[in-house]
Amino acid sequence: MHLSTSFLVSLSAAVATVNGALTRVTNFGNNPTGLEFNINVPSKLAQKPGIILALHGCFGSGEAYYQQTKYSSLSEQKGFITIFPTSKRDSNCWEVNTQKGLSRNAGGDNQGLISMINYTISKYSADPAKVFVTGSSSGCMMTNVLMGTYPDVFAAATCYSGVAAGCVAGSPGASPISSDGKCANGLVIKSQAEWVSVVKAMYPGYSGKYPKLATFHGTADTLVKLPNLAEQLKQWSGIQGVSFNFNQTNTPQSGYTKIVYGDGSKLVGYQAQGVGHTVPVHETEDLAWFGL
Ligand SMILES: *[C@@H]1O[C@H](CO)[C@@H](O)[C@H](O)[C@H]1NC(C)=O
Ligand SMILES: *[C@@H]1O[C@H](CO)[C@@H](O)[C@H](O)[C@H]1NC(C)=O
Repeated sequence: MHLSTSFLVSLSAAVATVNGALTRVTNFGNNPTGLEFNINVPSKLAQKPGIILALHGCFGSGEAYYQQTKYSSLSEQKGFITIFPTSKRDSNCWEVNTQKGLSRNAGGDNQGLISMINYTISKYSADPAKVFVTGSSSGCMMTNVLMGTYPDVFAAATCYSGVAAGCVAGSPGASPISSDGKCANGLVIKSQAEWVSVVKAMYPGYSGKYPKLATFHGTADTLVKLPNLAEQLKQWSGIQGVSFNFNQTNTPQSGYTKIVYGDGSKLVGYQAQGVGHTVPVHETEDLAWFGL
């Protein structure tokens, strides 16, 4: 037993370090749902480094998201740390449907993710004012939930092909298999005041600022349908107190429309014409939005 376990451990470590170090961390604090914590620390760490929490989609893993995205190679130039956690339940989707998952310090996935951030801040003397979150699909859904439940932790967020915070509330699951499908199908439409109350209820009494958001969605997304972009923008424009200002076509590339709220410093959407699920990760846009 011992031999085969250590063989498997060294095998997975070898796979994980192909493009630089991705290391599994254990004993990092309260982890009520049993998430896996993988961390990528660049060889040249910045002074008081920033932290990006990068969340995979359903059926994904932290190891795969690390391979699929360019955060680890960019961190070698910029010196930030990336956390690539793995959800092991509900087809590896994030818990964005339950009451506890949509609350603060209530035993959901979100709480384990915050423990990873706490651990990273103290272990690497990271800058608590430079903590960011991003994700794809279910990871974008969780990005919205973290913005609502832990607005004091994150300075900024970007995400790809997700839904508003609380959109999946009450569904029996959060995966394409286990959920009731209403939110993903674009059938959960609320007024701005309703969406704002959903966010406020996630951290009652909080009066501080909320993270800024840049959120991407493809018009040809058949899995998480396009109305979810407008619902996210409705929600966060209400929270931020900004309104639609103007569109900038073909930004950051041909076929993408940048939808600018207010002066563009707190909320932007990107609608990608003809792009399906999920919109490819735009790491350089993410880093610019984060100020890294
Ligand atoms: C994270 O750290 C903050 C500040 O020390 C603390 O208040 C909070 O309880 C911690 N959260 C978790 C989930 O460990
Ligand atoms: C801005 O762009 C979005 C996405 O393409 C579109 O739905 C909306 O109608 C546009 N608004 C204006 C005023 O052009």
